[in-house]
Amino acid sequence: MTPFARRFVGELSFETLSGNKVFIDWSEEPLAHINLARWAEVFLIAPCTVNTLSKLALGIGDNLLTTTALAYNGKLLIAPAANTVMYKNPAVQENLRKLKERGVIVIEPEWGVLACEEEGEGKLASEDRLLDWVCYALNDKPLKGKRVLITCGATREYIDPVRFISNDSSGEMGFSLARVARWLGAEVKVIAGFTTAKEPPEVEIERVKTTEEMLKAVLREFESADVVIMNSAVADYRPKEVKEQKIKKKETLTLELVKTPDILEELGRRKKGQFLVGFALESEKLVENAREKLRRKNLDMIIANPVEVISAGHHRGYLITERGEEEFVFDTKLESAKFIMDRVAELTSS
Ligand code: CTP
Repeated sequence: MTPFARRFVGELSFETLSGNKVFIDWSEEPLAHINLARWAEVFLIAPCTVNTLSKLALGIGDNLLTTTALAYNGKLLIAPAANTVMYKNPAVQENLRKLKERGVIVIEPEWGVLACEEEGEGKLASEDRLLDWVCYALNDKPLKGKRVLITCGATREYIDPVRFISNDSSGEMGFSLARVARWLGAEVKVIAGFTTAKEPPEVEIERVKTTEEMLKAVLREFESADVVIMNSAVADYRPKEVKEQKIKKKETLTLELVKTPDILEELGRRKKGQFLVGFALESEKLVENAREKLRRKNLDMIIANPVEVISAGHHRGYLITERGEEEFVFDTKLESAKFIMDRVAELTSS
């Protein structure tokens, strides 16, 4: 903590709430700046005032924080927070440019109500974005230069203006894959149906409603993609006709359904070097059924999950390729996503 930070919140609060020692000066350890710099695998300054970032740009070390930053030669991230006018000040912007040129990761502030009660750009990045960038900094970049297209969420097929057929899907797995693909250096684009999970930060997301819209969006991106992961829960059928007016209640109602296009199968037919990954949710013969889909849809990899993963507290499945299969069990979908993307990176590196 800098002397200025300690005027906002005392170190005792930080020490108590985080359970970690807080360093403020050299009183206990004359070489604290060197020891801390050697110890850290990643260094995040959050929030970073315009004063501190300007000192970093100029190489000034006048407190424990800035001196440690000078002694550190690993991955440095700063998350500026300031009044909008101060942040936009040309001197500050020039200093930020210098830092970026030297490889410092600047986690841009967000729009919101600031400490000065003004509304504008300058609010400290959310905790989710800060942690996401730390993961980005900590990972190697085996997917650098690769374009990864991911679909997720559920598509909807409308019956009338307010009713639809859909699948149960939060989008969490696809969003987790998108996060991890970015950490590994890929350029990521997500095409999402309806989702309830938290969106991954710093990733382009295009929203679609129906299977037909998803097919169009995916085909538009397909040619320029290196890896395509179809994680969406696509509605397999749509009503033969969509009523323009809301259907009135009666004793029975019969809907005639017709098949929607199988997006992944279409991609399998058009494939020219893209690495194609599918998902299969199965209630029986998990590996056998998934393997059949791997072949029928001309895929390079398929992830087979038993239906109980929808409600289970853990995430279990098989990663299947022509070469073989690996079973995996993780506590979270994010961990499964890391396992899957690591394999994708291995199999697409040449
Ligand atoms: N998929 C797709 N288009 C569809 C249906 C499925 O692209 N119309 C994709 C899914 O995103 C998933 C894979 O195909 O990656 C397998 O989906 P799944 O529903 O398990 O298989 P289906 O081929 O629909 O077969 P079934 O429902 O009979 O098991």
